[in-house]
Amino acid sequence: MEDWDDGPFRPEAVTVRVPAKINLSLSVGPLRPDGYHELVTVFHAVSLYDEIVARAARGLSLTVEPLRRDSDVAGVPDDEHNLAWRAALLLAEYARVEPDVRLTIRKDIPVAGGMAGGSADAAAALLACDRLWGTGLRRDELHDLAARLGSDVPFALHGGTAIGSGRGEHITPVLAAAGLEWVIAVYDGGLSTPKVFETCDTRRRRDSREIPEPSVHPDLMTTLRSGDALRVGAALYNDLQPAAIELLPEIGDLLEAGRAAGAAGALVSGSGPTTVFLVDGPVSAAEVEEQLRASGLCRAVRRARGPVPGALVSNVR
Ligand code: C5P
Repeated sequence: MEDWDDGPFRPEAVTVRVPAKINLSLSVGPLRPDGYHELVTVFHAVSLYDEIVARAARGLSLTVEPLRRDSDVAGVPDDEHNLAWRAALLLAEYARVEPDVRLTIRKDIPVAGGMAGGSADAAAALLACDRLWGTGLRRDELHDLAARLGSDVPFALHGGTAIGSGRGEHITPVLAAAGLEWVIAVYDGGLSTPKVFETCDTRRRRDSREIPEPSVHPDLMTTLRSGDALRVGAALYNDLQPAAIELLPEIGDLLEAGRAAGAAGALVSGSGPTTVFLVDGPVSAAEVEEQLRASGLCRAVRRARGPVPGALVSNVR
């Protein structure tokens, strides 16, 4: 008789697709003793994706490649400096398994762009390795590991539209009615997140401004339920935007170009330098896209919609 009891199915390869995020609002509070800033943000996952493949292997290795012809992977580390590598190690240590995996990251999310691409890859690596190794962690365990890896990693698992608090790692889902359409200007180069936070602090000291407790503007929550692009556009907000523009004045010009082309809202994404433009329909999207391209200030212009779900297993074999 044939023996069917081969133990649990162990896949050869698991693919996870994970979205980029933008911050519909980002309210930055005071610097904490641990070097982070207390913040309240509204995260919004958009349809710009990285793909991570985890393959059965001996030992840990990582390769990074572009997902599309115009995706850029310059400067992305392929060793322990990559957050996805650290995610695989952390999960292996937590679940007491060997970190045997060959990771391939296919990038389309702008690198160092303020769209949490590195965090997205870490979230995807957690999910992919959990499936590959059959470690079967609960959602809350994955969330805790994600929070240890970085402030934006838990949201990449979660997706949708959600409030992030603490340093960004505490996630509360938000009721956001309709889909929003975005045009995304990818700047040719990155900005260092710590440098942007530091510049924000310096600006505040220079202006001797009192730093209020971070909060979400109630207008944004109401308008998100309405799904009205014009109203949502007017409520977008980012405390890091002046600092990002101080470091890279061209992104201020990009915001102007998008507004002049009729965008309902224009905003630096997170710590930048990616800028995002909320548009009201395909005609508006085409106009904004054309003007951004014509500005000669960006490496690529993309369209995306949100909210979309967080990291998801898209293939197992
Ligand atoms: O958590 P993550 O490693 O992504 O953060 C990168 C850097 O961004 C931190 O080292 C810190 O300088 C800055 N940061 C901050 N306050 C936050 C989140 C990030 O100052 N809430």
